[in-house]
Amino acid sequence: MELIKVTEQKEPHVALIELNRPKELNALNPQLMQEVRDALVTLDKNDGVRVIIITGNEQAFAAGADIKQMADKSAIDMLLLDQFTTWDQIRKTKKPIIAAVSGFALGGGCEFVMTCDMVIASETAKFGQPEIKIGTIPGAGGTQRLTKAVGKAKAMELILTGRFLSAEEAHFYGLVNKVVPKEMYLQEAFTLAKEIAQLSPVAVQLAKESINRSFETHLDEGLTLERKNFYLTFASADQKEGMKAFIEKRKPEFKGQ
Ligand code: CAA
Repeated sequence: MELIKVTEQKEPHVALIELNRPKELNALNPQLMQEVRDALVTLDKNDGVRVIIITGNEQAFAAGADIKQMADKSAIDMLLLDQFTTWDQIRKTKKPIIAAVSGFALGGGCEFVMTCDMVIASETAKFGQPEIKIGTIPGAGGTQRLTKAVGKAKAMELILTGRFLSAEEAHFYGLVNKVVPKEMYLQEAFTLAKEIAQLSPVAVQLAKESINRSFETHLDEGLTLERKNFYLTFASADQKEGMKAFIEKRKPEFKGQ
């Protein structure tokens, strides 16, 4: 791994992926995204990992897809490069992913963040889809996910002007879970990760799948999947333990079975 750094157990059950192209403000080139995909596949299979945090550095989560690598490409070059297939792994990962964002999350960087499951932002974070200013449009889900996150009117404004959203505005529009002082964004992401990591990984995975389905299907199909996943938790030892512990007024011990 050259362009990212992976720590499998930064805290018990919590893995950390750090995007590491600081000179280019973590611009997302195909190699970096392939490394992210490979890390996510490995961490998803690692039973010791329950929650994954992805972060950049204080200055930037990521300032977008790598403009220098794309500038001269033709439409067919872009089609054949098919760079977004690697990005699909972010949404296919079964374990929850928290984006810890400081500084710029622009273009593909904002799309990356929106593909994660939860977002903790430093008060310095800036979100936006400025592609329109370089003569293109979002290509990694921005027109879809930003619209679902902030509503049509605001998405139109942001994507058609390329304006940035401050961390506070992003919080107001529901794009991020929490805004904290700059020194605390990573720590806060770990606090959230550790809270989730204590819970049944089976139930967490099924809940994540069910929530994500609400973005991808009609209500009927989403409700059917949710119901099936709810029933499926009753096949887990964790559900038996969780409910028994509640009745016995003690803390449950979840084993992921
Ligand atoms: N691609 C490639 N290099 C980038 C980059 C990007 N997206 N963003 C920043 N960089 C590079 C700069 O070229 C610069 O490198 P050099 O020192 O070699 O010139 C270095 O990172 C630092 O950047 P700046 O000097 O520009 O820093 P700044 O503080 O003055 O400005 C910024 C910061 C506002 C983020 C500005 O860099 C910027 O506007 N970046 C581009 C943002 C953008 O348009 N993103 C969308 C990309 S397209 C996309 O993402 C498509 C998609 O949907 C997938």
